[in-house]
Amino acid sequence: MSIEQITPVDNTIEIRWSDGQKSKYHNIWLRDNCHCSSCYYPLTKQRLLNSSTIDLNIKTKSITPKNDEIEIVWDNDHTSIYDTDWLRIHSYNPKLVPIEDKLKNAKEILKQELWQVKDIENNLPQVDYNTVMQSSDETDQEEAIKDWSLKIWKYGFCLINNVPINPKDTEKLCEKLNYIRPTHYGGFWDFTSDLSKADTAYTNFDISNHTDGTYWSNSPGLQLFHLLYHDGKGGTTSLVDAFKCAEIFKKNHPESYEIFTNIPVPAHSAGEPKVCIQPDIPQPIFKLDHHGKLIQVRWNQSDRSTMDYWEQPEDVLKFYQAIKDWCSIITSSENELWHQMKPGQCLIFDNWRVFHSRSEFTGERRLCGAYLERDDFVSRLKLLTLGRDVVLDSI
Ligand SMILES: [Fe+2]
Ligand SMILES: [Zn+2]
Repeated sequence: MSIEQITPVDNTIEIRWSDGQKSKYHNIWLRDNCHCSSCYYPLTKQRLLNSSTIDLNIKTKSITPKNDEIEIVWDNDHTSIYDTDWLRIHSYNPKLVPIEDKLKNAKEILKQELWQVKDIENNLPQVDYNTVMQSSDETDQEEAIKDWSLKIWKYGFCLINNVPINPKDTEKLCEKLNYIRPTHYGGFWDFTSDLSKADTAYTNFDISNHTDGTYWSNSPGLQLFHLLYHDGKGGTTSLVDAFKCAEIFKKNHPESYEIFTNIPVPAHSAGEPKVCIQPDIPQPIFKLDHHGKLIQVRWNQSDRSTMDYWEQPEDVLKFYQAIKDWCSIITSSENELWHQMKPGQCLIFDNWRVFHSRSEFTGERRLCGAYLERDDFVSRLKLLTLGRDVVLDSI
């Protein structure tokens, strides 16, 4: 987008763009975001300038448009150069580029495909272990990781086939994608159903749909499972696209949807003698971004603590009604995708979006897996799919 006119107005500059739109930027904001080599270290993309040293009433001495850039000389003779695309992307008064458009092409490339069982049951997202792990060529390797990451992102889960049936190779598979998150269960875990840790996951009970780690301020982003061994019956896993369910919930039960976005829900993990983990701030079941878009579902009935700080007593019944409305959707056969895990096939899923459950089982069952960090995953996903330049332009 090119610039038609630049005018200094008080302690701001006003830009009129070629599409007729106008943006206003504070001088101090511009000065703070100077990307010259004394204010910004290009290698690390970090600010070198101490923002507290900038005069609140800093004035421009001259403003000169130069091709796709604007040069500003400030009243203290410091010179700053701004790329016009950068100015447009970051226009805040008014906001001209919606947050979802800040990353070029992200809307199409990173579009999440929300699903119900019928949409996905005959075409489960999957990749091959050997493709992901064993390509000798670095570009092929990156392509394989990109394909794998995109499937996880788009559908909220992905199967990995032909995995060697042992914990070591499963751990390497996790590390191929991302860092393993250490927790009170250890980093990479490997257990039989013997209640070795005091959590229902270590029993053979039926565990209904949930996300893991609602008792952490930052719930784990991804989880990977590998069923290494099972000599009994049952233990089927279900997956539910909670974002799709939330869409239906919002349409059919708008008041309950509001309750889930507003009421903070405390949670705890306290089974181990030396552990009682709780989030700093209880968080609502639906976490929305500033534009009202759902970005995380935190849903775990087992780990919910006593709720005793209702802002209005009438919210109690509304909350329990919302739970009923929600459960009728997430347990419906239209939304609950049942999958029998088997040795040699791993399952990885987005723990902010896709619920998992496990039916009751008999016999001995050995399962291994890990939590993976979400921010690192999303970083890699964006860089691989959109390119580093696009990502850097947005920051
Ligand atoms: Fe779980
Ligand atoms: Zn500078």
